[in-house]
Parts: sequence; C-alpha cells; structure tokens
Amino acid sequence: MNNNIRNEFPALKDKKVIYFDSACTTLKPYRVIEAMNEYYSFSGCHKRGSHSFSRKTTEAYEKGRDKVRKFINAGSPAEIIFTKNTTEAINLISYSFPFKKNDIVLTTNIEHNSNFLPWMRLASGKEIIHKILPVNNNLTFDLDILENVLKNNKITLISILHTSNLTGATFPVKEIISLAHRYGAQVLLDGAQSVTHHKIDIQNLDADFFVFSAHKIFGPPGVGILYGKKHLLENLAPFIVGGETAEDVNNIDFVISPLPDKFEAGIQNYPGVTGFSEAINFIENIGIEKIHQHVTGLNRYLTQKMSQENIEIIGPKDAELRGNIFNFICPKFDSIQLAQIIDEANNIMVRAGVHCVHSWFNQEHKSASARISFQVYNTREEIDIFYETFKKIMQYY
Ligand code: ALA
Repeated sequence: MNNNIRNEFPALKDKKVIYFDSACTTLKPYRVIEAMNEYYSFSGCHKRGSHSFSRKTTEAYEKGRDKVRKFINAGSPAEIIFTKNTTEAINLISYSFPFKKNDIVLTTNIEHNSNFLPWMRLASGKEIIHKILPVNNNLTFDLDILENVLKNNKITLISILHTSNLTGATFPVKEIISLAHRYGAQVLLDGAQSVTHHKIDIQNLDADFFVFSAHKIFGPPGVGILYGKKHLLENLAPFIVGGETAEDVNNIDFVISPLPDKFEAGIQNYPGVTGFSEAINFIENIGIEKIHQHVTGLNRYLTQKMSQENIEIIGPKDAELRGNIFNFICPKFDSIQLAQIIDEANNIMVRAGVHCVHSWFNQEHKSASARISFQVYNTREEIDIFYETFKKIMQYY
C-alpha cells in the first residue's frame, strides 16, 4: 500500500501515532472532511422548498443515496434508508417488523449489543421469542447447527453479524441466507464490520435487510443505512414519524410517504451523507480488494510475530480467517492496563474491553481483551513498534 496514503489523514500526517482501532471507527481523510464542509458553505433542507439551496441539498443527498446503492449493488435507491447508524437501523427493524406473538428471532451468541438488546427487549415484553444459536469453539459459524434449528423451529427472522467485531471472522452468509429462505425465514445482516474490507453485492447475497455505519468506512459518525428489499420495507410499520414521512395530513389521519421518505423523519444529516459519499469514493479509488489484502497481510504478519507469546487469540488461529482483527487476552496482564501502558509508551491505540459483546465474555467467564484492528493506513513498521513495546512490557512487569 502506498505510504502517501497516511498523508491523506489529518490524524496521521506528520504525527507519530499508531492507530490500531479502526474496527471501532476509522480515521477520516481530508477529502471527507472537506466534502462535509462543502454543505456548510450554503445549507438547505432536502425536498423542502424550491429555492436553489434546497435544490442543491436535495441533489447532494440523493446523489449520496445512489452512491451507497451502487456500493452495495442494491436494485433501487428506494431500498436505501439513511439512519443514524447500524444500531438505529436494527432498532428500526425490531420496532417496525410485522411480528406476531411468539415469532422467533434467531441471533448467535457473539452478537454486538446492537444486535442483541433490541431482540432481548422485545422478548422481555413477550412480543417475540429470542433464540440464541451457539457458534463453534473458535467462534466460527456452524451451518449444520443452523439447519437443525431451522428444521425444528419456525424461525421468522435471523438477525446476525456478517463479520464479527470480536474475531474479524466472516460468516458464510450466502449459505446462511439460502438455508434461511429454504425454511421461510428472513435474514437481517449486520454489516458494520464486513463493509470495511469486503465487497458487498446485496442482490447476489439475497439478504433481506443489511445495515452498516459510515464511520467505520472513513465517513463521519451519525449516519448509516438500512437496506431492505423494497416489498419488505413497504410492509414495515413507520418508525419515527414527522416531517417528510407524510404525503398528506388532515386533523384525523395522515398518508404515509412512499420509500425512502417513509423512514426519514425530520431534517437529516446532510453533511454526513455528503461525507459518506466521499468516503465511498475514497474506498473505490483504492479498491476494496486491495484494502482486504492489505489488512489481512498485516494480520498475518502480526500473528506470526505474536506466535511465541503467551496469549490467547479470540477466534480462529488462522490469521487469514480473522480479516483485519487480532483480539487477544494476555493471562499475565490486564488488557485495559496493557492498552493504557502501550499508549503512554508509544502512542499505540488499541481497544481494550468487552467490545460491546458483554454476553459472550460473561458466558465464557473471560476478562477484557485487547483488540488490534487494521486499516489501509497501517504498516508493518507500526506492527514492529507494537511488538517491541509489548515484549518490553512483558519483560518489565
Ligand atoms: N462496534 C464497535 C467496535 O467493535 C464500536 O469497536
């Protein structure tokens, strides 16, 4: 990967920081920040008014929608709903899906809280049954266990991660979706971690719903999307209602707007969408396959270096299967303390904690882990510095 890429990021340009926390959020390139600023050079409201600032806003916002549509190869812009983030998109589904009492929603036991709590909440109100599918010991997915569950239960919706934020491993989602459809279940994919370095072709995957956030792919926080097949989105109840969600209103009733406005109540994050769109341009200029090769190459390099150390890797041993994530527990050392020391020693930023997957850490009686995650701006030299720092800490303490 071209080293000049680091100069495209204000957080890295001429700075000695090692940012290994891109699975939490990526750094933002200048061009994304500038694209967002462009909106502030005028300001306007989408589809509200016929003056030029309003028209300019509408044009940029809808251009952003079509950019996202092409990025995941959705069939129609009406299938792309802008949300605040992945979490809001999953909450939207949990609120608006036409569940009947005792419908079953299936998740795995390593979901992020954003794909766990909405279902737990519905289940605690007895509106649905939330069933939890165990994954393999190395936290990969077992299609046979899924088929068995589908055979013996009438599952309405499978809501699962595409790529795990714990392990970096990607589930065999094409097979999962085709199996689910064979048994009459719909599938919601949490794509928050997969979009970062996998090409998404939603029509080929045939997912019913797909959600992700812009901030994990070089875009700003506060904007994400819900993709849904058109006929399914049409069948969902409105979520938040207000401006733009109604075509007509009288004192008794209102007529809900067609897609996508039906789900986009109130003034939206216009600069966020412009930044999102520019972030996709940034990825497309590099090429998602190149990003994938780069991050998995770094993971192989780090895995090989750490192979002699007394650590437990969360997830599959094989770096190839862990994409851009190296998540580990060091039995000798508290992960949170470790993360603090390596940051203080050499400005190396890793995430330590339970990564919003409290349920799995509790189930396994494990303490926090330290997670390293890579992106396009990371280098082997940074890994060397991390490794030397890690070894010194291990020797010193
Ligand atoms: N989901 C984000 C992470 O895993 C916040 O770090």
